[in-house]
Amino acid sequence: MAELEGFEFGKSDFVLLDEVTMEQFMENLRLRFEKGRIYTFIGEVVVSVNPYKQMDIYGKEVIDAYRGRELYENPPHLYAVADAAYKAMKRRAKDTCIVISGESGAGKTEASKYIMQYIAAITNPSQREEVESVKNVLLKSNCVLEAFGNAKTNRNDNSSRFGKYMDINFNFNGDPTGGHINNYLLEKSRVVQQQAGERNFHSFYQLLRGDTPETLRKLHLKKEPEVYVYTKEGAAVVTGSNDGSCHKAVLSALKVIGFTQDEIDSIYKIIGTILLLGNMEFENDGEAVQLSSADTVSHIAELTATEPESVSKTLLFRTVATGGGEVIEKGHSKQEACFGRDAFAKALYERLFGWIVSRINAVIEVKNYNPALHGKNTVIGVLDIYGFEIFDNNSFEQFCINYCNEKLQQLFIELILRQEQEEYNREGITWQHIDYFNNQIIVDLVEQSHKGIISILDEACLTVGNVTDTVCLESMNTKLGQHPHFTSRKLCPTDKTMEFHRDFRIRHYAGDVTYSVEGFLDKNKDPLFQDFKRLMYNSSDPVLKDMWPDGQLGITEVTKRPLTAATLFKNSIIALVDKLACKEPYYVRCVKPNEMKSAVLFDDARCQHQVAYLGLLENVRVRRAGFAYRQPYARFLQRYKMTCEYTWPNHLMATDREAVEAIVTQHGFEGDVAYGHTKLFVRTPRSLYTLEQERAALIPILVLFLQKVWRGTLARMRCRRMRAIYTIMGCYKRYKVKAHFWEVERRFAGVRSMDDYGKSVEWPTPPAALAEFHAITQHLHRRWRARQIIKNIAPSDMPEVRAKVAALGALAGERSDWGCGRPWERDYLANARDSPQTSANFSRAAKELRGKDQYGQTLFSGSVRMLNWFNNTKDKALLITDKHVYRLDSKKYKVNKRIPLETVTSLSVTSGSDQMVALHTSNQDDFLVYLQRGQLCTNQDRVGELVGTLCDHFRRVRDTDLPVKVSQRGLSVYMSGKQKSITVETKAGQVTPDFRKSRGGYTLFLPQ
Ligand SMILES: Nc1ncnc2c1ncn2[C@@H]1O[C@H](COP(=O)(O)OP(=O)(O)OP(=O)(O)O)[C@@H](O)[C@H]1O
Ligand SMILES: [Mg+2]
Repeated sequence: MAELEGFEFGKSDFVLLDEVTMEQFMENLRLRFEKGRIYTFIGEVVVSVNPYKQMDIYGKEVIDAYRGRELYENPPHLYAVADAAYKAMKRRAKDTCIVISGESGAGKTEASKYIMQYIAAITNPSQREEVESVKNVLLKSNCVLEAFGNAKTNRNDNSSRFGKYMDINFNFNGDPTGGHINNYLLEKSRVVQQQAGERNFHSFYQLLRGDTPETLRKLHLKKEPEVYVYTKEGAAVVTGSNDGSCHKAVLSALKVIGFTQDEIDSIYKIIGTILLLGNMEFENDGEAVQLSSADTVSHIAELTATEPESVSKTLLFRTVATGGGEVIEKGHSKQEACFGRDAFAKALYERLFGWIVSRINAVIEVKNYNPALHGKNTVIGVLDIYGFEIFDNNSFEQFCINYCNEKLQQLFIELILRQEQEEYNREGITWQHIDYFNNQIIVDLVEQSHKGIISILDEACLTVGNVTDTVCLESMNTKLGQHPHFTSRKLCPTDKTMEFHRDFRIRHYAGDVTYSVEGFLDKNKDPLFQDFKRLMYNSSDPVLKDMWPDGQLGITEVTKRPLTAATLFKNSIIALVDKLACKEPYYVRCVKPNEMKSAVLFDDARCQHQVAYLGLLENVRVRRAGFAYRQPYARFLQRYKMTCEYTWPNHLMATDREAVEAIVTQHGFEGDVAYGHTKLFVRTPRSLYTLEQERAALIPILVLFLQKVWRGTLARMRCRRMRAIYTIMGCYKRYKVKAHFWEVERRFAGVRSMDDYGKSVEWPTPPAALAEFHAITQHLHRRWRARQIIKNIAPSDMPEVRAKVAALGALAGERSDWGCGRPWERDYLANARDSPQTSANFSRAAKELRGKDQYGQTLFSGSVRMLNWFNNTKDKALLITDKHVYRLDSKKYKVNKRIPLETVTSLSVTSGSDQMVALHTSNQDDFLVYLQRGQLCTNQDRVGELVGTLCDHFRRVRDTDLPVKVSQRGLSVYMSGKQKSITVETKAGQVTPDFRKSRGGYTLFLPQ
């Protein structure tokens, strides 16, 4: 049962029809054809309707879809049957065969090619060279056989005019190792005569139209088929294919198969000989008969590698052995000469075809086969044989062909029924017999010894004397008059569809066929003068000689009559049937939809006729008779388990059979099934159909369910993975933090005992999460370190340290030197070491001043150079206490000027190394001093000390910040409310730094 096809395409298996009637069968067949579904099953049989158009259903993807699958898993297809045959062969080591039947143009040959292509495509996955070459020859052989064995007929542009059975041998691996082709009854009469609108075999036109002028000249041929009697009829007939390109393909295929150039040349010399023979005419010359053209004789002699004299003699005379062992030559009449020529042409072609087949067989036959080494050699046979034929004029060929079809039908019935029966036996099911038409009676009519038609024909041929076709018909009338399937005008005088003394009718299983007995005897006898055989045997062309081994017998040796054509055919068909009967058969039944080769037309009457004679309806009946449908328990369960609550998703019963019983019971089908040993048998298709429908309805729900479960599973998996990722990330982060702590701990463990308290210890780089922590700990460490340093400073040193810290904040980075590295004495005027001569004086004056101004401590004192009002400079003394800023004269230290300390608003210094300081005051009368150095630090900086001390004092005592401005060059000060700018210059010859008036203010000149 096809999985992938909806019911809108009709029923993919005819056993599913509600009722087996011709109407329903035809309706389904037509619907499927119209929907482009050319294949339909009857159980394991494939019914194929010729689509008459290229179908896109043979590609690689389709092959892949069918490879190794069960029949019901895919829509019906040739590939399904090919695969089933291949599987049976490979898995069960069964020999199998695929029998393709149907009338001319129904698509048998195309089907056989697709089947072979499929087998070639699925085998030899390892691309072994020898297997590939076997496959290649098997595939290429089609092209050659079609060129020589096919012709355009009124029914089919590429009609096979021979029967073909091809065995493909496989090794234990299932790879093709060789093959064998059997050919049956080539329609050789076509060589010399064709019906109107038909052609001779393709090979003639291909040679004439496709080969080079050079070759044709060598063969003494002209390129127009019109000029040859044998090809004249078909010269103007149009076919679907191009003879020229086909010829090239054939030549290349011949080479691939392994024909040598000499062999190929010989093949076409024979074709040429036949064409030339056809044009050979005979003239009456008094008593004797003469050949019309000596040239043609010599050309024939050249092409057949014989002597011209022998050729003309053979065409004109026959050798006869007299009773006394004497040999005499007897001249032909004109009629006999023509008959002999045509018989020779037909025989030449027939033997050529036979030789080509045997040559291909020699190439593909399994070589060096050793069962012990290579395992069982299994076979798949493919039979593409002419279907049943009914023409207006039916002759000996149709008789043979229709007999062959009777035999195959017999086999079909026998095998299908037998298999069915065997299966029921195997499964322990009681078999019900059903009636079907058994055509054995017709087979007997044809082939029975002594009584059969063939026997009567043979007898007539053997009878010496003038036995004519009519006499033979009389004999049939006498012997077969009682037979229910035989009739003639004599036996049924009222039937005017038959002629007296000419026609007889056989009621074939496929329909009534009226045969004209004219020519039966000749065709059966198939006489060929021995002289032709001898002529060919004596050819010096080895290929030709090889085709005529019977020519070696001397004239007196030829005693035994050869078997007649009908008997030869009968024997070959019996052998074929025997060969097929021992194999597991698979059937492809081809139906031709119309006579117009149209892709859209479905001719009901024609199709119905074919369905009837192919016995398809019976086939369906047989299939359904007992049980229409059967399947192993496991597979049935697999397919329908979702339709029953006890089996979905899995059953808990002891065996699959019990589970299947549960499904059957749930649906109430108990009365409609039987339980075999391994399979369930379903009697009516309706039950199965119900199950199928239920299944089809459930599938979308199941799909959704599965999708839901699977999506849930995927989401859960994703979630678990994310969680794991976060856990890992968390652990890692914690580890990084801890590792950082450990590292900090390790590095800073001993800082307490270090001289620099860990200043030189490098901090490890913290993880991002610890950036803030890192900043804080660094800060903490710095503070701790500062504490450790400060803790050890004596209280007396603290003011200096604080001042230095303040100076650092105000000047560090701005001024190159600020005297950080030396002790700060502050009160330099009172310092005996700095001012040894004047310190005593100053101390006295300062004491007096302290008494007067009640100041607590001296913040700074020192000698300075100052500007006075008159723009000249004087040495003065600067004293800054915690209350005032004083300008003192430099001798007696008398106060020149005093301002309260709180009026100082800010300080200005330069970034250079000069010692200039401006104390800006709130009343815009600034102090501008140049600090001079005493003995203690002759060239050290005192600006930093002054600035640091004042800043520290303001911060600590007055709780305000004293802004300090550091300028790059020069300062700006107010003097008595006027703004002056002070620039700095170095000057050569300047001994001490000093101010001078300049434009817009003053310039401080510094020594170089
Ligand atoms: N499956 C197919 N797809 C496309 N075209 C097809 C198919 N089968 C058959 N045909 C067409 O039908 C024509 C006749 O088919 P084919 O030669 O296989 O018939 P046949 O049954 O072998 O006839 P005969 O008995 O005369 O040899 C082909 O040449 C092709 O054009
Ligand atoms: Mg064919």
